[in-house]
Amino acid sequence: MRHLLDTTDLSVGEIDELIELARDIQQNRAFYAHVLNGKILATMFFEPSTRTRLSFEAAALELGGQVIGVSSGSASSMSKGESIADTVRMVNCYADMLAMRHPAEGSAAIAIEHAKIPVINAGDGGHHHPTQTLADLMTIKRRLGRLSGMTIGVCGDLLYGRTVHSLLNALMRYPENRYVLISPEFLSLPEYLNNRLKASGAQAVRAHTLSEALPEIDVLYMTRVQSERFSDKKTYSDLSDDFILDAKKLERAKPELAILHPLPRVNEISAEVDDDPRACYFQQAMNGKLMRKALLIKLFKALDERDTDRGRIEFAPSVRCDNEKCVVNTERDVKSSFRESGARRHCAYCERELS
Ligand code: NCD
Repeated sequence: MRHLLDTTDLSVGEIDELIELARDIQQNRAFYAHVLNGKILATMFFEPSTRTRLSFEAAALELGGQVIGVSSGSASSMSKGESIADTVRMVNCYADMLAMRHPAEGSAAIAIEHAKIPVINAGDGGHHHPTQTLADLMTIKRRLGRLSGMTIGVCGDLLYGRTVHSLLNALMRYPENRYVLISPEFLSLPEYLNNRLKASGAQAVRAHTLSEALPEIDVLYMTRVQSERFSDKKTYSDLSDDFILDAKKLERAKPELAILHPLPRVNEISAEVDDDPRACYFQQAMNGKLMRKALLIKLFKALDERDTDRGRIEFAPSVRCDNEKCVVNTERDVKSSFRESGARRHCAYCERELS
């Protein structure tokens, strides 16, 4: 059984195949109209969503499948205190595949532990969001014709922006990419991801304003401040003008720049940019549906077993992940476990390094 926790569950070759398949699906919609006949996709969304849930559901329906699910935490028995594990045990009985979004970091990994059907991570807190990345990669590939040898600027909330985390995890596997990390200090990348970026050998530099970074960038990935993830609402403030894209700043950018945003936007891209030919974000949302169609086909067809044993280490129960948003600390009955990478040990669920 195949699951999608992050894009690293797919090989680079498989990602390329999915992009090709998505293109074919777009051109030959009727040919694929019945490939999921008789199959049921469950979309269990315990956090708000417009694009991800609707595009998953449209994808399944356009492929001939059917859809069941919940669109908010209050609509399921989780609001009565049911655990993720028990919820997934129920979905096993009613659906052939599960796309789940949940606010705890590492929640998708827990779902996979209890699933008898393929699970797709549709966003686990501020951790990962791999299907958004598939849409992003398709958009970049179609616009620039490549996924390597680029300078990528990621701007905004790099700390909690799960789409940025998954995108960097994916792009690090392509050669000769450079990164410009554009954010205020308090929204910098999580430490584990920063370390991973360094270990990949890629060049990564910080920029403190969008204007100084823009002239060298090929792909600009904008994000909103994930205000819902701050434990103390007072500790975050809206982005200053330095991180807001407008027509004036764009005058300094390359003519072939691709501007992406996973959406929803708040104020980080002003509306006047929408008509600029470099704006790709609405196309990106369409590509999200096409890539989800390709992924559903692949996962339903995938019979090849993958090694899902990711080399866990269990410690005495007193050694816990210290991330309060980690599923180990938000769910009952979840044992802490860690993985080793080089000299470091990090949580098997949210990836925070063991301090
Ligand atoms: C993103 C998400 O949910 O992480 N939205 C999406 O899925 N397209 C980005 C965001 O909420 O800012």
